[in-house]
Amino acid sequence: SVVHNYTYILKETKFTRLCSTKSMLTVNGQFPGPVLRVQNGDTVIVTVQNNGKYGVTIHWHGVKQPRNPWSDGPENITQCPIKPGKKFTYEVVFSDEEGTLWWHAHSDWSRATVHGAIVISPKNGTSYPFPKPYAEEVIVLAEWFKGDVKELIDVATANGSDPQISDAYTLNGQPGYPNNCSTTTTYRLPVVQGKTYLLRLIHAGMNEEMFFAIAHHKLTVVARDASYLKPINTSYVLITPGQTMDILVTANQSPSHYYIAARPFFDSNAPYDNSTTTAVLQYVGHYTPPSSPSFPTQLPNITDVSAVDNFTTRLRALASKDHPISVPTGVDERMFITVSVNQLPCDKTVCGGPNNTMLAASLNNISFLTPKIDILQAYYRNLSNVYESNFPNRPPSPFNFTGDSNDVFLLPSTGTKAKIIEYGKRVEIVFQGTSIENPENHPMHLHGFSFYLLGTGYGNFNTTTSPKTYNLIDPPEVNTFGVPKSGWATIRFVANNPGVWFMHCHLERHASWGMNTVIIVKNGTTSATSIRPPPANLPTCS
Ligand code: C2O
Ligand code: CU
Repeated sequence: SVVHNYTYILKETKFTRLCSTKSMLTVNGQFPGPVLRVQNGDTVIVTVQNNGKYGVTIHWHGVKQPRNPWSDGPENITQCPIKPGKKFTYEVVFSDEEGTLWWHAHSDWSRATVHGAIVISPKNGTSYPFPKPYAEEVIVLAEWFKGDVKELIDVATANGSDPQISDAYTLNGQPGYPNNCSTTTTYRLPVVQGKTYLLRLIHAGMNEEMFFAIAHHKLTVVARDASYLKPINTSYVLITPGQTMDILVTANQSPSHYYIAARPFFDSNAPYDNSTTTAVLQYVGHYTPPSSPSFPTQLPNITDVSAVDNFTTRLRALASKDHPISVPTGVDERMFITVSVNQLPCDKTVCGGPNNTMLAASLNNISFLTPKIDILQAYYRNLSNVYESNFPNRPPSPFNFTGDSNDVFLLPSTGTKAKIIEYGKRVEIVFQGTSIENPENHPMHLHGFSFYLLGTGYGNFNTTTSPKTYNLIDPPEVNTFGVPKSGWATIRFVANNPGVWFMHCHLERHASWGMNTVIIVKNGTTSATSIRPPPANLPTCS
């Protein structure tokens, strides 16, 4: 294993998209940001120098950071922000992740412009569990806002209203064709006829799950969240914010130009950005290009719920001899967590919601309040009044989560409540989506772990029948998964990584409204199973 050194300079940079120019926060002046390239087992030392206007942190999404929550990044959860003019050095240890992950800012909505890919190749002497592709390409899906993202979210959180929607989706930083302002800058992927390419697709967007397809080309999904899958042949994929997907595509059509396209999936009729973004798969060689590339007609429609299920329920871990999985066979710690969008009463004169309320979101009816000092430091140094250790557990009955809407569940309470788990416990969490306010699909993400997604279903979780549907043979190992609209999802993992780990919906508007909590895994009995000492240069809180 090798140690790599990178320097990230956070700074304002001017970019022009949709015929309008803005200054935005970037890493090293790039959008999307630089690609981290490592091999399984390597370590990356990243010095982040903040030359921007406000405090920021960086998170390494899907990297487990064994025993080292100090380098995980979520603002005021594991560290205080790196202030303008200051720097902080992250140590990112890759323990067994292999495939594609990504990094992003984890302060307010700054990740809209501050994000990039992490490419993790197999160790020397090992190879992909599929034929070696001719070439590889990173494709980052994101959302573009014409305005200043920080100002947009500050306005939305101040009055508890829905934040402004994005103005376009982008593929590798470009909105693509339907937009007249970007006809010459559309991202193009050159391919040689007959060759197979590995696409590393990353969803860095803020608020929408997306369908993705390439005209006339079949896709083979071979990994998700840096964990290998049994190959799935499909004509499109569904990817949620936070997820990464490794996809093989063979250039087996006649030489021409073909649209690569992505559009959102909405499971509610909220007025979100419903535009389509495109890039071009462009065969190299001499031929007369079409006046317009063909469009992937198989790309599902915006409200096509069955297209989502038909794809996501097919994912199975590769579970081979070289890439074994180890699903915990028993459970020591069971949690049942309701996932809701709801409303908080508010007495401000300007309230975004109806009847003197503001929009809120909650887990087990607690709308998370971000503390002023990071929880990791408070936990490590035994500081009081930063967080409470009483995140509630909730039995899966008797409330009808997906039917009733007129209940105490309408009004969550607020707090900074963590769930404490003993080292080594086998944990199972059932997430139950509710129909309280606006039922939606929620891409939940837990830091510090990857875990097995045992099953999902619609309606209320049933303690007798739902577990009978679990896949205990080859469930996919993931770090972000969708809790279906008015449905449930179950994950299982061993709490073998001591630290303070953020858990939240990766739809940024829900995270901003409080759909978050913290899991604290206690130290084991030896120093090798305990949190490492803090680094010397931790940013100070003020
Ligand atoms: Cu991708 Cu808490 O984040
Ligand atoms: Cu959500």
